[in-house]
Amino acid sequence: MWLRASIILKAIIQVIILFKQQRIFRETSHIRHTSPARKSCLTCVAVLIPFRNRHEHLPIFFLHLIPMLQKQRLEFAFYVIEQTGTQPFNRAMLFNVGFKEAMKDSVWDCVIFHDVDHLPENDRNYYGCGEMPRHFAAKLDKYMYILPYKEFFGGVSGLTVEQFRKINGFPNAFWGWGGEDDDLWNRVHYAGYNVTRPEGDLGKYKSIPHHHRGEVQFLGRYKLLRYSKERQYIDGLNNLVYTPKILVDRLYTNISVNLMPELAPIEDY
Ligand SMILES: *[C@@H]1O[C@H](CO)[C@@H](O)[C@H](O)[C@H]1NC(C)=O
Ligand SMILES: *[C@@H]1O[C@H](CO)[C@@H](O)[C@H](O)[C@H]1NC(C)=O
Repeated sequence: MWLRASIILKAIIQVIILFKQQRIFRETSHIRHTSPARKSCLTCVAVLIPFRNRHEHLPIFFLHLIPMLQKQRLEFAFYVIEQTGTQPFNRAMLFNVGFKEAMKDSVWDCVIFHDVDHLPENDRNYYGCGEMPRHFAAKLDKYMYILPYKEFFGGVSGLTVEQFRKINGFPNAFWGWGGEDDDLWNRVHYAGYNVTRPEGDLGKYKSIPHHHRGEVQFLGRYKLLRYSKERQYIDGLNNLVYTPKILVDRLYTNISVNLMPELAPIEDY
């Protein structure tokens, strides 16, 4: 009896979510394919979301983000980059793939690198880019709203297309959980940038809870991080090789890709 009730309740919630998404999508669909003639647009933002096995997070994420980005008067599109195959999750390489595909798709000035389980608590946390790379997710509920360390660059960050190209993107060599965001921090600083963050409580985020089954840590990260500088211009956008499958969904572009280590060879450090 209770089980039946909960199943019905779940279905009702799903339908409400679907209706809301469709309404939001009708309102925003004009932005999906922005004019190719345009050369530059400071309020045009591509949101890249690396993804694997978290389907239940997507509706929550979109319902939260879309009204916020609309309120901020940004033109935006979402790119969900899903890793297929059996290799450990490579968040950084998925971002590089998403970046290249977004550039083929439209003209963007700003690219947001966004974990699917991070929800901004303050809708005035402005998702535009600036003179300097930006770390949006400065205060996470899971870290009791304290920056875990000064160089922390995880969760949600944003760079202009020019900045991201200049630093050669993310590294491709981080297979498994951890370290790639620290490498990005190093790259940004070696290229002469500083990182800005939202003031005060603007940078607060809550995380959608989930299980961590099947997530492998990347134990080689400390070694790679020691050679961030040497690796910056041999591993990144410039040695990226991949074959994507692309589907344009109602709310997002679905880029699925089977990443393989041998497709992004680098010298062994
Ligand atoms: C970055 O910050 C450092 C230390 O605060 C400062 O010396 C440097 O000039 C800044 N660089 C840029 C490009 O603003
Ligand atoms: C993306 O597309 C693939 C098929 O190419 C599908 O299996 C997968 O579920 C889709 N992922 C998302 C997040 O929509």
